[in-house]
Amino acid sequence: MNRNDSLRAEALQAVFRSFKPGGRKIAMLTAYDYPTARLFEEAGIDIVLVGDSLGMVVLGYPDTTLVTLEAILHHLGAVSRAVTRTPVIADLPFQTYRTPSEALANARRLMEAGADAVKLEGGREVVPQIEAITRSGIPLCAHIGMLPQRVREEGGYRLKGKTPQDAQRLLDDALAIEAAGAGAVIMELIKPEVAAEITRQLSIPTVGIGSGPECDGQVLVSHDLIGMFPWFTPKFAKPTASVGATVRECARRYLEEVRGD
Ligand code: KIV
Repeated sequence: MNRNDSLRAEALQAVFRSFKPGGRKIAMLTAYDYPTARLFEEAGIDIVLVGDSLGMVVLGYPDTTLVTLEAILHHLGAVSRAVTRTPVIADLPFQTYRTPSEALANARRLMEAGADAVKLEGGREVVPQIEAITRSGIPLCAHIGMLPQRVREEGGYRLKGKTPQDAQRLLDDALAIEAAGAGAVIMELIKPEVAAEITRQLSIPTVGIGSGPECDGQVLVSHDLIGMFPWFTPKFAKPTASVGATVRECARRYLEEVRGD
């Protein structure tokens, strides 16, 4: 482990341990390339996530299920080279953690490529995978609620926790993954009251996306924040810039200049 790796590992542990309760909120953003990750570190973002949202906002796939481990490794390398003190979490893509041994082998590959922690989706059904990874000493962030890797089975991106039974299921999942060793949990598209209750009951930090303000932190797909994927923006994301429009305008001006229009 070099100096930067150990700085980032310490920073990750600090984030995982010290954001409960009522502390400073965790601010996490996705990044898939060197300049974006470096700019996020300069801005002071707490954690950079090399998420498999890469599939949609960078690679042009319809959902995350076509993202391969090799694609994540490729982008993770660029992000990891960009940051010195900002911890990097990398996604285990669809069907790369079907068994505990597969999960551990692929988590190790992500760590070797520069991740400080790995993330996988699911609740009690992935507890054996979470245990295999965390018992080997690899920090892990879980992901419950709407699970993008299951969007095809579920037929869309829908709010979770709307019935008392579903709220209880999510809470049971959250408690099980905490007991299995997860250091944090992303909660995607969970009814805000339910996300708030899970946040109160867990001792690890919760990081919400479309799950209301009472999580211990928030995460966004960076393209949704900066307006770099103008063809689709989730309802909960409020872009604070129109980088896509700026890029289009720069290209138009360049075109005029080249053609001498
Ligand atoms: O892949 C990703 O970017 C994610 C975030 C939506 C949390 O998992």
